[in-house]
Amino acid sequence: MKKARYYLEKAQKEGFAIGQFNFSDFTQVKGIVGKAVELKSPIILGTSEGESNFFGLEEAVALRDVLRKKFNLPIFLNLDHGKSFEYLKQAIDAGYDMVHFDGSKLPLEENIEITKQVVKYAHKKGVTVEGEVGRLGTDSSTIYLEKFEIKEEYLTKPDEALRFVKETKVDLLAVSIGNFHGIEASGIDPNLRLDVLRAVKAKTGNIFLVLHGGSGTPEDDIKEAIKIGIEKININTELRLAFSGNLRRALNNNPEEITPYKFLPDAQKSVEGVVNRKIGLFGSAGRV
Ligand code: G3H
Ligand code: ZN
Repeated sequence: MKKARYYLEKAQKEGFAIGQFNFSDFTQVKGIVGKAVELKSPIILGTSEGESNFFGLEEAVALRDVLRKKFNLPIFLNLDHGKSFEYLKQAIDAGYDMVHFDGSKLPLEENIEITKQVVKYAHKKGVTVEGEVGRLGTDSSTIYLEKFEIKEEYLTKPDEALRFVKETKVDLLAVSIGNFHGIEASGIDPNLRLDVLRAVKAKTGNIFLVLHGGSGTPEDDIKEAIKIGIEKININTELRLAFSGNLRRALNNNPEEITPYKFLPDAQKSVEGVVNRKIGLFGSAGRV
């Protein structure tokens, strides 16, 4: 099976983005992977520290292996928003394909130092590393009742991005361009700062750029961001909303039903619906 880098390069050349879809439960994985198989799309499964603590690092790797083999599909596993070298080392040792060190809340120097340490360890094992410069608001699952406003000082500064990429030698860079984790109650977030993305891209050249907080991002902005040079887009909140909403409804509508394989398929279908829309938007269908 070709490595994640091969598909990221393909995305860069052909002008599409690969979706990272987060999970913490097998029914979600069934929905995500089932749709990717149907659409013949390369795909990244993501687990944060919290998600992988619940699911298990080795368990996630074993599941990826089984699904890759069964469907002969490029399925990659990313440890998302790792906060320490130690945790990322565990994920690398378990067999993750990619890791993301999120040092965005640290002073730049410290972020660079730890990212370098991660890169040194990961690259020896053929694992791809994502770093982050600039800060994103809050966590996935947050529903904003008022308009979200990103602080100007949190946006990625092109010069810092260039320095970070040069010194750390990361493979991917997550940027802060008006994106945030969670979603506005309306379901549509404020527009991205595409001017900032253009400026970062102009400085950093061929490094793969990542858009976090993909839930609720206006679709035209996503399309434009891919044209400018985003190769990976992370989605979590929309999946969680679909999954939990459907599960809650299924159980409430049928209080007598206690058989998981009877009340879980609806939740799985709702995940498939989200993944279907995102793969369509990102243009990754048929790219295997
Ligand atoms: O790392 C995961 C994400 O950036 C997902 O963001 O929950 O807003 O979709 P989201
Ligand atoms: Zn994120």
